[in-house]
Amino acid sequence: ITVYVPRDSAATSVGANEVAAAIQREAEAAGVPIRLVRNGSRGMLWLEPLVEVTTGRGRVGYGPVTAAAVPGLVAAGLFEGAEHELGHGLVEELPWMRDQQRLCFARVGRTDPLSAEEYVAAGGLTGLRTALERDPAEVVAEVTESGLRGRGGAGFPAGIKWKTVLDTPGEQKFVCCNADEGDSGTFADRMLLEGDPFCLIEGMTIAAHAVGSGEGYLYIRSEYPDAVATMRAAVDIAYARGWLGADVLGSGLRFDLFIRVGAGAYICGEETSMLESLEGKRGMVRSKPPIPAITGLFGKPTVVNNVLTLASVPAILAGGGAAYAELGIDRSRGTQVFQLAGNIAHGGVFETAFGRTLGELVRGYGGGTRSGRPVRAVQVGGPLGAYLPVSRFDLPLAYESFAEAEAMLGHGGIVVFDDTVDMAAMARFAFAFCAEESCGKCTPCRVGAVRGVEVIDRVVEGADPDANLALLDDLCELMTDGSLCAMGGLTPTPVRSALLHFPDDFTGHHKEAT
Ligand code: NAI
Ligand code: SF4
Repeated sequence: ITVYVPRDSAATSVGANEVAAAIQREAEAAGVPIRLVRNGSRGMLWLEPLVEVTTGRGRVGYGPVTAAAVPGLVAAGLFEGAEHELGHGLVEELPWMRDQQRLCFARVGRTDPLSAEEYVAAGGLTGLRTALERDPAEVVAEVTESGLRGRGGAGFPAGIKWKTVLDTPGEQKFVCCNADEGDSGTFADRMLLEGDPFCLIEGMTIAAHAVGSGEGYLYIRSEYPDAVATMRAAVDIAYARGWLGADVLGSGLRFDLFIRVGAGAYICGEETSMLESLEGKRGMVRSKPPIPAITGLFGKPTVVNNVLTLASVPAILAGGGAAYAELGIDRSRGTQVFQLAGNIAHGGVFETAFGRTLGELVRGYGGGTRSGRPVRAVQVGGPLGAYLPVSRFDLPLAYESFAEAEAMLGHGGIVVFDDTVDMAAMARFAFAFCAEESCGKCTPCRVGAVRGVEVIDRVVEGADPDANLALLDDLCELMTDGSLCAMGGLTPTPVRSALLHFPDDFTGHHKEAT
């Protein structure tokens, strides 16, 4: 009997380690030999800790399980997969799991993240082996054909970025993975790092072969200590197995991978700041051009991709770019790992082809708000993303449809708010956040964010609203057009969307009505 208890930090934060210890104790006391596997999370966070038991029918799930509930569960037949009030039946059959198209997250939650054998048995290394049999240009062409776009938020075509690096002459090139996942309501990078670390290593190694790089850096935020520990252990195993190092899988490719831990600045998620930080300097934004693909880490041609971009690559090489491109709509091809967070009944990760509607995810799979009150707004794409009202729940989840609605998908985070939210306060928060996290290099962002907080305060106080709203509009325009990077450039997005969709909140009407 194999029993799975996640080691993912979302699960351990609600007692998974204690549950695992209790299950081990009860199994020994009952004389039942079990194999306890600490898997990644399935991504149904409202069920964590989710305990799974193998049966002849498949893996049966129980959750949320507490350590105190374990003796009763074992007595009721946990190890036989018996029915129980905490039971959910076959995990793969739950609509949340069944309706996903998991390519990037194919193994997350299914396997022991640090078992090389399980990784290979579950299809790991197929993509890398395929890539190593081909010329770099062929690998780049496959990724281009897949239509994969940068999952960090901007959605730049990954194949074109890789081609730029491949075509730029240079003795030394780098592959850097951005795991400084700082957006509010996003956690997919972390779950992949903790739940399937070899997949990222494989993706980075494919990128190295594709562009002619011998050295890679994985930049992880310090707030993710479990992800750092898991990745360090996985890199050691990968070296011991010959998946990294002087002769990757006997192909002659040399690729060394190093892990660097950030120091807790949001701006280090911006690619040029991350490169500065990797070089040992303070995380300040560099002017672009030159783009990192041409002049990147230590001035060398560098691939900078997000975790989910690189972790999508093994499946693309294994299944073919054309098959990946069949999924999705418009120029949004393949799958995106959406993250449901905030005031939501069923929060977690949901990987699906682009094209489902926002409402399907929030109301359908997410089950509406946790508070039970009506949904009023969602913010998609992190703290710099737009707020959208329920009337836009028909929007298909794709880069193009969101751009048309003056919103952005970003890294796929969806944060839900109920009808008690004060949207003027949320708009104020956007400026306050920018003022706190600005690197300070350019004036529109450094000064504009502080002025923005002041102007919103005056609007809400009702001081000369027309003049102050006009001033706010001017300020937003200035920050959008004049900021050096997306931090200052996108801060007006949540502000403008809040003003557009929820104007009453700025003039006190909403508060009076509720
Ligand atoms: P960007 O549009 O300037 O660049 C996107 C990427 O394409 C960069 O890697 C850039 O170097 C590359 N690129 C651009 N032109 C190229 C060319 N001709 N050839 C090769 N490569 C080229 O966007 P930026 O500033 O990198 O990212 C902004 C996005 O970041 C926002 O949309 C936001 O969604 C996202 N973001 C994500 C966060 C997270 O935690 N994942 C946090 C904050 C923002
Ligand atoms: Fe720095 Fe803000 Fe300017 Fe970006 S927009 S370079 S974060 S001051």
